[in-house]
Amino acid sequence: MTEIRVEQVAPELTYALRQRVLRPHLDISAVRLAGDDDPLTATFAARTPDGEVVGSAIVRPEPCPWRPADPGAWRLRGMATDEALRGQGVGGHVLRAAIAHVVLAGGELIWCNARTPARSFYERAGFEVHGEEWVDPQIGPHVAMWRRVYPVVD
Ligand SMILES: CC(C)(COP(=O)(O)OP(=O)(O)OC[C@H]1O[C@@H](n2cnc3c(N)ncnc32)[C@H](O)[C@@H]1OP(=O)(O)O)[C@@H](O)C(=O)NCCC(=O)NCCS
Repeated sequence: MTEIRVEQVAPELTYALRQRVLRPHLDISAVRLAGDDDPLTATFAARTPDGEVVGSAIVRPEPCPWRPADPGAWRLRGMATDEALRGQGVGGHVLRAAIAHVVLAGGELIWCNARTPARSFYERAGFEVHGEEWVDPQIGPHVAMWRRVYPVVD
């Protein structure tokens, strides 16, 4: 694999990749998420040695819709890997960085609305499906997924 480095970045750095991979039918302004300005939002990017962003993930505290009383819930969004680099571990690397951030921030669970083709990617990372699949008319089939995370013990 190309030498890839994963780091926390300003959300704007990931907009071009997210638009290209996740919202190609929309303008780049549409990939900006409501929580991007929240100081607790953490955006991670996989970058090549010359700084190109080839992977992304965003985590932010947000109650889990089907476990609203559970404390420490974080939502994962914006998972994307540049098409040319898929299947080489970039997404897994970015996802692990996002999960590690949630753990260090004291989070207890992570949830997402996963595109169904990415379901096995999340299952490999310990997520399980909640409920039935549904279809977003613009994007396609989705499943809700979640996993617990555990505190770091000294
Ligand atoms: C989902 C997505 C982010 C995964 O990114 P990725 O960089 O391809 O992820 P990885 O390479 O870590 O893992 C993907 C697959 O490659 C395999 N893989 C991982 N490392 C590998 C390696 N070194 N060699 C070969 N295969 C490998 C994994 O087994 C995994 O298989 P799985 O899909 O059955 O779980 C990417 O496919 C993507 O951007 N898809 C389009 C947008 C999308 O659907 N995003 C998710 C929205 S919910």
